[in-house]
Amino acid sequence: MRKRLLIVDDDPAVGSALGEQLAGSRWLEPCGQAENVEAAWRMLRDARPDLVLLGGIKEAERGVLCQQFRLAFPHLAFIAACGTRELAWEPFFRNLGIWVIAKPIQPGQLEALAMQLASLQVLPMGGVQAGGAPSFAGETGPTPGLHAAEARPVQPYLAGRSSTKHLITVYGPKGGVGKTFLSRELAVYFSLQKRDGRPLKVLAVDFNLDLGTFATSLNLPRSPNLFTWVQEIDARLHELVRRHGRDPLDVRPEEWQEYVAAVHTQPEEVDKYVVTYEETGLHVLTSPRDIRHSFEIRDYHLYLMLETLKHSAYDVILIDTAPDTTDATIQALFFAERVVMVGNPVVDSIENIQRMLKLLREAEYPEERIQLCMNRLQKREMFTLDEIRAYFHLHPSKKIHPIPDDAEVKKSINTGTPVVLHPGRSAAKEAIEALGSILLPLDAAESGSVKGKAKERPALLKWLWR
Ligand SMILES: Nc1ncnc2c1ncn2[C@@H]1O[C@H](COP(=O)(O)OP(=O)(O)OP(=O)(O)O)[C@@H](O)[C@H]1O
Ligand SMILES: [Mg+2]
Repeated sequence: MRKRLLIVDDDPAVGSALGEQLAGSRWLEPCGQAENVEAAWRMLRDARPDLVLLGGIKEAERGVLCQQFRLAFPHLAFIAACGTRELAWEPFFRNLGIWVIAKPIQPGQLEALAMQLASLQVLPMGGVQAGGAPSFAGETGPTPGLHAAEARPVQPYLAGRSSTKHLITVYGPKGGVGKTFLSRELAVYFSLQKRDGRPLKVLAVDFNLDLGTFATSLNLPRSPNLFTWVQEIDARLHELVRRHGRDPLDVRPEEWQEYVAAVHTQPEEVDKYVVTYEETGLHVLTSPRDIRHSFEIRDYHLYLMLETLKHSAYDVILIDTAPDTTDATIQALFFAERVVMVGNPVVDSIENIQRMLKLLREAEYPEERIQLCMNRLQKREMFTLDEIRAYFHLHPSKKIHPIPDDAEVKKSINTGTPVVLHPGRSAAKEAIEALGSILLPLDAAESGSVKGKAKERPALLKWLWR
């Protein structure tokens, strides 16, 4: 059956051209064009499309639009058509499960995606948004390349990645549940591990931008920090804007995102902004020293920093977050290959995790990435882990990882000495080490590059782009 395509673009020429070009298509039938957000909502309801082509609408940001549409119409698949400069956003779109194609739009590309959608829907796992969408962007020009590794339902937390790097985000939708404690312990634990006889290179990042305390928990200075890097990025952006003959003060917020696409960062530049925990060689990118500096960190700074980190030489990047749903936290969740969702066995913390899981499920976030963790468990609790599991509607294979309440933790935070560095055994130390080995089984770390390896592209698609 032909897939119905809704075009969301404020340029009416896009719809009329595609209408003609796709007239005889076996795979795709345009079911209308929306030239603004209001019309798009109406047509999603009335025209019942299967696929949405997000061209451009001045009043809206496509990533956000897609998430909103998907909440109301979870079955929809999305394609973003990007110009040369917008292609820098491709990884971000893919993290959101949006297919990306390069402009000028070629009807053959859309047909191939529709065809792929039809074949994906008969697979037992269903949805195409299992963990990042395939990329059809490639280079601009008459024959855009198809990234074969990604033109198939992808492994949830290895989506489109070919390195053995691991980006882990520690999150908990309630304050004081132990996110920073666990981030510190896991980061130090990873920095003690080896691969091929070489200690892992580990970076901890404090994304609790305003009130972060990661550095304090290891007695580290807070300078340089994330804001030092942001200032450097801004200096480059301003220079770029001036080279284009404009005054940085006149640049609108949405325009900065376009300029960011033209800024080149080097993976090694992060070295200038980290402080080192000498005991284990762990690197830390701390949050700003002055709260006011955090107000100047924008979503595009965060995006650029995360992209740069992804290409850095670190084996493990561990991000501590704030108990909120700000840009920093959401980007840290979407960039992560693994998420440690931390709570305490108290009803308010449990409720917020449930609400957050619901939101992520509605956004089709790949739940396989999430490792649930109950911190501060005592011998006798009102709720058992099984009861909590049932409340969260977890998949039967999914366990909740327990971390015991331990009187030593408070002292270890006050003295800046991680529990995993304590001599001797303790229940908390063993639980953290067990969690660490689940998050990063060393054999999986070794084999990561094999899993991410490109597969042959399907013969028909090969033919289409020949
Ligand atoms: N397993 C544990 N046993 C005993 N105390 C703990 C444990 N985990 C955390 N704590 C206590 O809880 C306090 C808060 O922990 P932490 O700062 O890590 O929470 P957080 O989730 O990062 O908070 P915020 O939301 O403010 O960032 C710690 O100072 C420590 O005293
Ligand atoms: Mg914290």
